[in-house]
Amino acid sequence: MAVKGFYVTTPIYYVNAAPHLGHAYTTIAADVLARHHRQRGEEVFFLTGTDEHGEPVADAARAQGVTPQELADKNAERFRALGPRLGATNDFFIRTTDPEHERVVREVLAKVHEAGYVYEGVYEGRYCPRCADFKAENEIGPDGLCPIHKIELTVEREENYFFALSRFQEPLERLYAEQPRFVAPQSRFNEARSFIESGLRDVPLTRKHLTWGITVPWDESHVFYVWFDALLNYYTALRYAPAADGREGLWPPSYQLIGKDILRFHAVYWPALLMAAGIELPEHIFVHGFLLMDGEKMSKSLGNVLDPFAVIDRFGTDALRFYLFREVPFGQDGSVSTASFELRYEVELANELGNLASRTLAMISRYRDGELPDGPLDELLAADFEGLAERVREQFDRAELTSALEEIWVRVRRLNRYVEERAPWTLAKDQAAAGELDLVLRSLAEGIRSVAVLLWPYLPASSERLLASLGAEALALDGAGFASGNVHRTAPPEVLFPKELGPA
Ligand code: MSP
Repeated sequence: MAVKGFYVTTPIYYVNAAPHLGHAYTTIAADVLARHHRQRGEEVFFLTGTDEHGEPVADAARAQGVTPQELADKNAERFRALGPRLGATNDFFIRTTDPEHERVVREVLAKVHEAGYVYEGVYEGRYCPRCADFKAENEIGPDGLCPIHKIELTVEREENYFFALSRFQEPLERLYAEQPRFVAPQSRFNEARSFIESGLRDVPLTRKHLTWGITVPWDESHVFYVWFDALLNYYTALRYAPAADGREGLWPPSYQLIGKDILRFHAVYWPALLMAAGIELPEHIFVHGFLLMDGEKMSKSLGNVLDPFAVIDRFGTDALRFYLFREVPFGQDGSVSTASFELRYEVELANELGNLASRTLAMISRYRDGELPDGPLDELLAADFEGLAERVREQFDRAELTSALEEIWVRVRRLNRYVEERAPWTLAKDQAAAGELDLVLRSLAEGIRSVAVLLWPYLPASSERLLASLGAEALALDGAGFASGNVHRTAPPEVLFPKELGPA
């Protein structure tokens, strides 16, 4: 049997508007995970893409006087272009208008129909066209508006085919009882479990009055409700993505990253749908919080968005990747702002990491002409690095991207203190301390090498430059430990994070 690969997904993004930092956030998080698992030597598949059917897209297209396909083509391109700018190494970019996706959606849902989990009925309820979702009474506040978009809800009554979600009440309760890490963080696990325990009702699977969607094979007057079409992307992609061809052991997903607003779809509907289709369930769903600006969720409909392209032009890709997981604990909500961005860039990237590296390289060039003889490492410093790579690995096993980064950053700060404590510039004045100076410089170079390997998923371009100047390009996690004999010849320093930023 093939070894289980590491399969990570992001939600697929709606093409009714342009990408913003909230989308970039999930894509970067998935990329950090993907890169880390590649460092472990695992077979990785990283999927992202666009969600192109449904009412929000049809409405936005109508408002702009273009066809839904034209709008989808235009905006899918913008999402696709965002990936490389973020340093994302996704193996495929799925579009739900891909004919292969449509074919497999029809195939899977026909199976669910044949298995007896679909029936005809009438749905009546209050509906948010932007969420493309019906709202239960207890979700609607006293103002009667959509709690997310703050817009009027419409009352919809229509004939639909229903998915018999209620028949998965017990299987889902069992899933949550048996797999305490199916959804993380714990608060989101509890939220999904209480939703299930409060009693599941059947949900509409198709819509009759929409045409922008995938036609239902057993009744061509209906299209599938966009969420079912969309959720299946995680499965359909592996059936036709060129990079998945012939790679066994990718299904099921290892980690599916989502925002907290789409918890119910992923933590309840999605496993039920897979059970109905007889397909194995994902291993973990990790739910991140919202990036807030001025205390509100950043969103296209609220108009308070930070443009990731502008941020990257000014600070660079690595700085954005780093900032998002430093500033906002992954899994919680947190505010972002230009001011806190600039502060972290200056203090942490330019000073704590950039200066540490350039001072160290400058001293190795000045005192040792760039050559470090083999020899022992500082034992006290080694003790502070003991077990670091293993702890980072454990945090990654739980998708704790902020805690993993903090583990590493504690060592970056430790190395800065080490420079001050050992003052190599003083040792350099004393011939008798030559051996000790070797040890200090070697230990610093090795410490920097170790953190650079571990930081690579967050800061890929900077880590690679740093490792190249240490003459130690290997990225494998097995080689991340603090051990002597790795750095021999170093290059003169270069500025990793220039203080002069590009124009705002
Ligand atoms: N198309 C659906 C997902 C279908 S997945 C089968 C969708 N698209 S979306 O474009 O609206 O949002 C995609 C993801 O971006 C969601 O997980 C959402 O939480 C995330 N973000 C959008 N704005 C965000 C923030 N301000 N902060 C963090 N993430 C947010 O929902």
